[in-house]
Order: sequence, then structure tokens, then C-alpha cells
Amino acid sequence: MKLGLGRDATLSYRRSMDVPPVLLTEDEIQGRVAELAREIDETYADAGGLVLIGVLKGSFIFLSDLARKLTIPHRIEFIAVSSYGAKESETADPVRLIMDVRHAIDDEHVLLVEDIVDTGHTLAYLKRLFGAHDPASVKTCTLLHKPDRTEQEVDLDFLGFTIPDVWVVGYGLDYAERYRTLPYIGELPPEMR
Ligand code: PRP
Repeated sequence: MKLGLGRDATLSYRRSMDVPPVLLTEDEIQGRVAELAREIDETYADAGGLVLIGVLKGSFIFLSDLARKLTIPHRIEFIAVSSYGAKESETADPVRLIMDVRHAIDDEHVLLVEDIVDTGHTLAYLKRLFGAHDPASVKTCTLLHKPDRTEQEVDLDFLGFTIPDVWVVGYGLDYAERYRTLPYIGELPPEMR
């Protein structure tokens, strides 16, 4: 294993993690994810199948909970993107694909699954990218949206929660790779960054 963390070291790391205050409880998240799954089931009831594309890393927990609540036939793909800084984005697309889907999505119904939409650049880029693959449709499902941060508008077809412009962690979201496995979504105050 690359990091070489033993069980004791892992437990000690977990014990030493600060616990950010709750913004959305585990129950609130699970309830909303169940509602989103029902909406998606209804929307694609006659579609004959759906491809869920999770955007790593932040979506991995949301996608796994959402997918397990769906009753319609579906398959899972993962992709990864990298973002450039603001200065570089003046001349180039601020987002770049660094890991593609494993199987082609032509003629299929595609649902892009994100943990959070902040500026909107990532999801707008991905809609353009996958829209060019001749899918049957491309829609988006995001757990969180920060409207105060919008720089690029993108249709949010399935949305979990609208939140204020605060730093959120947990349920897949990180701060410097920490807190992703918290079962709830916390608001990380400046003194914990
Ligand atoms: C987050 C999130 C989205 C993106 C949204 O990813 O998962 O992919 O930022 O931001 P935008 O709307 O401003 O484009 P992040 O870069 O934190 O990477 P991670 O998912 O690997 O943590």
C-alpha cells in the first residue's frame, strides 16, 4: 500500500481529526438522496437504461448511495478532471479531462453525478464534452449547489440542496483530502483550515 498506514496509525489519524459543525445531517442527506432516486426512477422509467457518470473524487459516496436506491437498470462509470487556476483559465478551458469513461456512451442516456457545483465550470465542460458523444440524452445530478459562486450557468436537472457560500466537507467532500468519509456534511470554519 502506497501510504503504508497500519491499523493503529489509521485509527490515530481518525481520532486526531477535528469535527466540523453540521450543515446537513446524515438523515437529511439520506432522505434527500432517496427522493432524488425516486425522481430519477420516474424520469428514466421508459428509457431502457441509464449511465451514471461519477466525477471523482468528491462524488464517490453520493453516487454509491444514489445508485443503490435506484430501481431502474443502470451502469456506472467514473471520470476525473483537473482544474486550472483563474489566470490560466483566461486563455484555456479551466477544466481538463484526466480520466475518461471505460465504455462508450453513444446512444445511451447519461446522468453526470457531482457532489457540488461551485462556479459551474466543471459541469458545463462535462455537459459539452459528453454531449458531443451522441448520447440519447445528457442530464446532471448534483447533491449541492452554491448559487452565490456561479460564474457559468448550467442546467441542474436533479439537485439535492442549495447551500450558502461556505466551505463544506464530508460525504465525499474534502479539505486537503481530509473529512471525505464523514457521514454528514459539515461547514468548515476558517480556523479549521
Ligand atoms: C469539486 C467538485 C466538482 C468541482 C466543482 O471538485 O467535486 O467537481 O469542484 O467546482 P466548479 O463548479 O467550480 O467547477 P474538486 O476540484 O474539489 O476535486 P475532488 O472532487 O477530487 O475533491
